[in-house]
Amino acid sequence: MNSRMNTTSPLDCPAWKALEGLAGVAFKRHPDFVLEAAGVRFDYSRQRITGDILEALARLSSERGFAEWRKALFAGGKINTSENRAALHTALRAGQDAPNEVKEVLEHLFSLSDRIRSENRFKRIINLGTGGSDLGPRLLADAFSDGALDVRFVANIDPVELGRALEGADPASTLGVVVSKTFTTAETMQNAQALRNWGCRNFVAVTTNLEAAKAFKPLVTFPMWDWVGGRYSVWSAVSFSAVCSIGVDPFRDFLTGGKDMDSHFEKSEILKNIPALMALLGVWNTNFLGSRAHAVLPYAHRLRLLPAYLQQLEMESNGKNVDRNGKPAAYATAPVLFGAEGTCSQHSFHQLLHQGSAAVPADFVDCAISRELSANATAQADALAEHGRPSSMLGVSGDDARNLGRLIALYEHKVFTQGVLWNINSFDQPGVELGKRLAQKILKGEK
Ligand code: F6P
Repeated sequence: MNSRMNTTSPLDCPAWKALEGLAGVAFKRHPDFVLEAAGVRFDYSRQRITGDILEALARLSSERGFAEWRKALFAGGKINTSENRAALHTALRAGQDAPNEVKEVLEHLFSLSDRIRSENRFKRIINLGTGGSDLGPRLLADAFSDGALDVRFVANIDPVELGRALEGADPASTLGVVVSKTFTTAETMQNAQALRNWGCRNFVAVTTNLEAAKAFKPLVTFPMWDWVGGRYSVWSAVSFSAVCSIGVDPFRDFLTGGKDMDSHFEKSEILKNIPALMALLGVWNTNFLGSRAHAVLPYAHRLRLLPAYLQQLEMESNGKNVDRNGKPAAYATAPVLFGAEGTCSQHSFHQLLHQGSAAVPADFVDCAISRELSANATAQADALAEHGRPSSMLGVSGDDARNLGRLIALYEHKVFTQGVLWNINSFDQPGVELGKRLAQKILKGEK
């Protein structure tokens, strides 16, 4: 590991101390705090910051060794130290520059999904997966399905979800897609078995555990790689069911959008870098202004599942009170992320955003779909500003797959940058393991 890649506590950084001295700043609009890159317009003019604060945040990133960490991310360095793995999800959307194994799997996936969409053999596809093996493909299919195939997603161990997904289906024309990086997740394995018991005989598997997948005698097994975390895997064969639902071209556009953001993030200096700037503002709001929650509000019905997707991405990555060295982190880390599609969210929880007892910073995602949607997003952000509450606007030119790719990659890089700032490994999830073990014990009657 490069010696500039800081793994000490951020509390020891001189810039952190300088920031503490700046926290009393009054709220003031800064109309020139706007950045445009990779098809995204980031308007952070309604944040509670000044030029001095931005300079100190930039110094913090440099004291943390941000540039060196970023280099290691793109170079495939083993930055997931607890599992001794790289975090190379950017390679999945690198187009012609992707590793051959990635290109081969994508081509295979594209030809199979094209065939399934054009033939009439399968009338229903059931995707069985949870967490990172569900949320991304579910979001893609919900956003961009063209109706050519009936694709359903089942994530819950509650049999009601599978039962509903199978209503009106016939086992002979149903394809089960079992998606599990580990092929050991209880929910997914139980649902896969239930689908088989129901009579389904045709399966596709997506996994790193090729051996375990054989038990299902799949027609095809698409490999995953250990250098891609589950919550970073939407760019891979994990999205096979989604590609069956939306078609190959939108998925290619989605990958291109991710690549757009990678190029911007990899090359831009810190204060001209949208994901890095979002990360710095998040740290400012969390650690110096005391926010404990963060709202994401896409003003686009197609992106209504984006908040659910980002919940896993942000909270499973950085919801940790232990640092890279296994020591307690004596500072706040990831806030609670929540959200819903605007304008519906306005009639649900915006009251608390405007007047709740604590300020909740918000990201308004304006996809420029209609004057009404854009006007409402801007009006909400302006009203928050009048109450002295910070928010940002993320503007894109449509609710299409390329823009969704840009937005998801943006949040991935924000999460990565915050991991560097907070000295957290954003690519493991040890906290969720205890609950899984305890559930098994309870089921076996040992507890
Ligand atoms: O329990 C958390 C988790 O491990 C997530 O990180 C992951 O996305 C999900 O479960 C599903 O895991 P798998 O793809 O191995 O079934």
